[in-house]
Amino acid sequence: MTTTWNPSQYLKFADHRLRPALDLLARVPVDEPAAVFDLGCGAGNVTKLLVERWPKARVTGVDSAMPMLEKARLAAPRIAFIHADLAAWAAPAPASVIYSNAALHWLDDHAALFPRLMGQLAPGGALAVQMPRNHGAPSHTLMAEAAEAGPWRAKLANVRPIRPVHEPAEYFRMLAPLAARLDIWESEFLQVLEGENPVVEWTKGTGLRPYLDALDDAGKKGFLAAYAERIAKAYPPEADGRTLFPFRRIFIVAVR
Ligand SMILES: C[S@@+](CC[C@H](N)C(=O)[O-])C[C@H]1O[C@@H](n2cnc3c(N)ncnc32)[C@H](O)[C@@H]1O
Repeated sequence: MTTTWNPSQYLKFADHRLRPALDLLARVPVDEPAAVFDLGCGAGNVTKLLVERWPKARVTGVDSAMPMLEKARLAAPRIAFIHADLAAWAAPAPASVIYSNAALHWLDDHAALFPRLMGQLAPGGALAVQMPRNHGAPSHTLMAEAAEAGPWRAKLANVRPIRPVHEPAEYFRMLAPLAARLDIWESEFLQVLEGENPVVEWTKGTGLRPYLDALDDAGKKGFLAAYAERIAKAYPPEADGRTLFPFRRIFIVAVR
C-alpha cells in the first residue's frame, strides 16, 4: 500500500521533530565528507542542516514522496533531491555519510537493510540513523484498537502500521561486525504540545496516514472520531491546558 505524505501536516510539529535530527547530526564523527546522502529527506528541512554543517560536501536528498520532494526543491533549489525507493536505493559511489532522520522505520527487514547501507560507505564513512521507537505507546496501540471498533474494520484489516523498530541490542548485533565504531542510544523526549487533543494532530502527519488513506470520507470521519476519543482519555491536558506526549527514539551512529 502506498501512503500519502502531506508536508504541511508533518511540519506542524517541526520544532519537536527537528531536535532529534540535530542530536543525531551532532554525533556524526566525520569532518570533511565528500558525498552525503539524506535518506527519506522529506521536505528537505534537515537536508539544509547537513549542507550547513558540511558546506563543501555534495549533499543529496532521497525520498519516494513527490509532494515532499517538490517542497524540498522549492525550499532549497541548490540541493540535489532525487526520487527513489530506499528499499532499492544504492549510493552511486561510496558515501562519506549516510544520514536518515525518522524514515527507516517505514522500511521492512532491517536485518538486511542496515548491513546493506553499511556496505555503501567508504572506509571511515558513517551511517547515522534516528527512528521513533514509540510503537508501544497509546498513540500507536490505540490506532489498532480504533481500527477494530467500527464498520471501517474490514477496510483497515490489511493496513500496515509503522513496523516496530528493534531493541537497541539487535542493531548492535547487526552492525558491530561491520563497524569500526558504533554508538547506539535512546532518548525519551517529554514533548509538550499545544491545542485541542494534539496527539491526534501529531499522528495524522505520520502513523495514522496508512489508516486514513484506506478509507473514504465517511470512514475517515468515523475512524478518526473513534481514535480521537481514545487519545483524549490517554493524553488528557495538564492544568495549564498543554498536553504531555512522551516520545522515545533510537539513535544509531556506525562508522565503517
Ligand atoms: C517522517 S518523514 C521524515 C522527513 C525528514 N527526514 C525529516 O526529518 O524531516 C519520513 C520520510 O521518509 C520517506 N520514506 C518512507 N519510506 C520511504 C521509502 N521506502 N523510500 C524513500 N523514502 C521513504 C517519506 O516519503 C517521508 O518523506
